[in-house]
Amino acid sequence: MSDAEGSGSYLDAPRIVHPPPGPRSRELLADQARWETDAVAYSHYFPIAVRSARGSTIEDVDGNRFIDWVAGISVLNLGHRHPRLTAALETQSREVWHALELPTEARVRFLKELEACLPGTLRNNARIFFTVTGGDAIETAVQLADFAQQRHGTLTFSGAYHGVHGGAVRLTSGRRYHTDSPFVGGSVVRVPFPDPYRPVLGADEGAAGTIAYLEHLVNDPASGVDSVSAVLVEPILGEGGYVVPPDDFLPSLREFCDRHGILLIADEVQTGLGRTGRMWGVEHSGVTPDILCMAKTIGGGIPLSVVAYRADLVKELPRGFHLGTYRGNPLALAVGTEVLKVLREGDLLARTAHRGAALMDRFRAMGERHPSIGDVRGKGFMVGVEFVNDRTTRRPWGDRAKAMRSALFARGVLMHTAGAWDQVLRFMAPLTIEDELLERGLLAFEDALESLDGPAGVPAGHRVKVPSSVPGWHPSAGPELGLPGPSHPIGPHPGADGETDDA
Ligand SMILES: Cc1ncc(COP(=O)(O)O)c(C=O)c1O
Repeated sequence: MSDAEGSGSYLDAPRIVHPPPGPRSRELLADQARWETDAVAYSHYFPIAVRSARGSTIEDVDGNRFIDWVAGISVLNLGHRHPRLTAALETQSREVWHALELPTEARVRFLKELEACLPGTLRNNARIFFTVTGGDAIETAVQLADFAQQRHGTLTFSGAYHGVHGGAVRLTSGRRYHTDSPFVGGSVVRVPFPDPYRPVLGADEGAAGTIAYLEHLVNDPASGVDSVSAVLVEPILGEGGYVVPPDDFLPSLREFCDRHGILLIADEVQTGLGRTGRMWGVEHSGVTPDILCMAKTIGGGIPLSVVAYRADLVKELPRGFHLGTYRGNPLALAVGTEVLKVLREGDLLARTAHRGAALMDRFRAMGERHPSIGDVRGKGFMVGVEFVNDRTTRRPWGDRAKAMRSALFARGVLMHTAGAWDQVLRFMAPLTIEDELLERGLLAFEDALESLDGPAGVPAGHRVKVPSSVPGWHPSAGPELGLPGPSHPIGPHPGADGETDDA
């Protein structure tokens, strides 16, 4: 892979020289625990302190090197410190860092590039609203839809995650996000997402059950839904467990919206910018939303989010309709322009589609030997491996997915869970990951599976009991103690470049 496509990973990863967390990581984790809020979550899943990161790898302060299949939760679709993004950031840092909403060269370059990348009829027919985070973009989109329609009411889906800001948390479906929020309520109605593995509204009919239910909500005066301005949907459920809906879902949803004068908002915060092997998740079905929200990879790691909406949606928005001091930060916009260019050039997206399909085949082959894998699904580099402790009942096995996360961590591979029960391990590596790191990650995955299931999987009735996540990791303890370590020693791989510098 050429530098322009984002090479530069530590090619000797995974390299475990001090079983994590190593001594220096423990010290920094303890310092963090002393001063930061208890609410910090990720350092419990991956208890290391980071020294540096390159491409698809992270080095901790003890010299361990991890293959990064988390990518900042899809923020780093082009990996850590892609050379072209670094160059754009350095150049912009010598010009201007913060300019409120005043036009800059960087801002206009970004707008032009983005316009050329938008899906379907939004291309050359969109207005852009800058925001800062994913949740911020979603709130703005819903506010915009309600303003355009002059009515309230949003339909969202079970399993949906749209953020936890005051306004966004009511659109997110998980109970766990509502219990601690004072902002829940308002006119949000949730509809079962069409999940082929766990169907709620009809198993064999594609999206028909979901659409019939939506029709009922808007047509039946006694449905309890008084007014609807928009439907908000993730093309593939992200935090909800990487659920790929049936092919007819988005086209049917588009038709439903058109029939009833309802706006379609696509939340592409996780699916957008190449993650699924196309620039946008909606492009797999040829659907154009009225409003499209993007975040995460659009700033390449610098906070930036964007709402693109049909230019004819509203004649005029009141000045200061939605505010935020940091919207459209010049550093983020300079990086964002390069993100879009790199994604558009070359064959990165096609390669992602192709490599993602091959990867799913590999996970499925492991599923043939390991009945704890109930389902493998996804598109491009958005791949979910669902764990069940009984394939017939499909009972979700969150503890097994979390044990896998820990076993992979011990082997130097970072992979995170998703799903209502944390039962899905999700692959979201940078699209630029080198083939050899992909291969080594897969070997570690199989090794971790075997350490938990045994080489030929677990026969029914002989399930391995593993501890669930330790609630509240303590610096003096490992992440999930007592889990089997790697069956092969982990160290530099023959043929690896053995680089140690951080150039
Ligand atoms: C689909 C989706 N929408 C919205 C959000 C919220 O984004 P943020 O965490 O930047 O507010 C996320 C975050 O993971 C997401 O996955």
